[in-house]
Amino acid sequence: MKVCGISGTPRINGNSTILLDHALSPFKKEGWEVVQIKLSEKKILPCNGCDKCRNNGTCVIDDDMAQVIDKFRECDALIVSTPVYYRTPTAQLMSLFQRYYSVREEKPLSLKPGGAIAVGRGTGGGQAITINIIYTWMLSCGMVCVPGELNGVTARADAPGDILHQPDRLLQAEALGQNVLRIAASLSR
Ligand SMILES: Cc1cc2nc3c(=O)[nH]c(=O)nc-3n(C[C@H](O)[C@H](O)[C@H](O)COP(=O)(O)O)c2cc1C
Repeated sequence: MKVCGISGTPRINGNSTILLDHALSPFKKEGWEVVQIKLSEKKILPCNGCDKCRNNGTCVIDDDMAQVIDKFRECDALIVSTPVYYRTPTAQLMSLFQRYYSVREEKPLSLKPGGAIAVGRGTGGGQAITINIIYTWMLSCGMVCVPGELNGVTARADAPGDILHQPDRLLQAEALGQNVLRIAASLSR
C-alpha cells in the first residue's frame, strides 16, 4: 500500500512539511510505502486554460505535474499540507489542484481517502478556510475526506521549525494520519 503526502510550502523544512511528516508516520510504522511531494522542489505551472486535455486527457504543459499524476494513480491515500497565504493555500498548491483538470475524466484519486493540514501565523489566520479549500478540492476529485480529531489539522506557527515546540499539534497531525490509514485499510478490504 502506498500513501502520498503533498507539502505546499515553497520553504525548506517549513512547519507544514514537519506536520506532514508526523501525519505520515503511522503509515511508515505500518510498513506502507511513503511518497512525499515537496512543491519547494517541483515546477508546476498554472493551468493555461487551453482545454487541449479535453481531447486526450493529457496536459500540454511540460513540467513536473505528469509525475504527480502518476503518484496519484499509484497511491491508496493522500495527505495535503500547506501554509496559509492570504487566507488560502499557496499558489504552488493551487496550481497543482487546478492542473488535476486534465485527468478529471480518468479520476485517479476517486474514492481514495484524504486528509488536510493548514498552518498559518495568525489566530483565525485563515487556517479553517484553507482546510475547506483542500477538502473541497478532494471532494471534487471524488475523494473521501477524512477528519483528524475534529476536522482537518490547523496550527499556528511562523518561522520554520516553530511547530516543533507544539507537541499537541504534532500529535494532532499523527491522529489525522491514523484516521486516514484506518479508512484506507477498510476501503481496501
Ligand atoms: C505571502 C504570505 C502570506 C501569508 N498569509 C498568511 C495568512 O493569511 N494567514 C496566516 O495566518 N499566516 C499567513 N502567512 C504566514 C505563514 O502561513 C506561516 O509563516 C507558516 O508557518 C508558513 O508555513 P511553512 O513554515 O510551512 O512555510 C503568510 C506568509 C506569507 C509568506
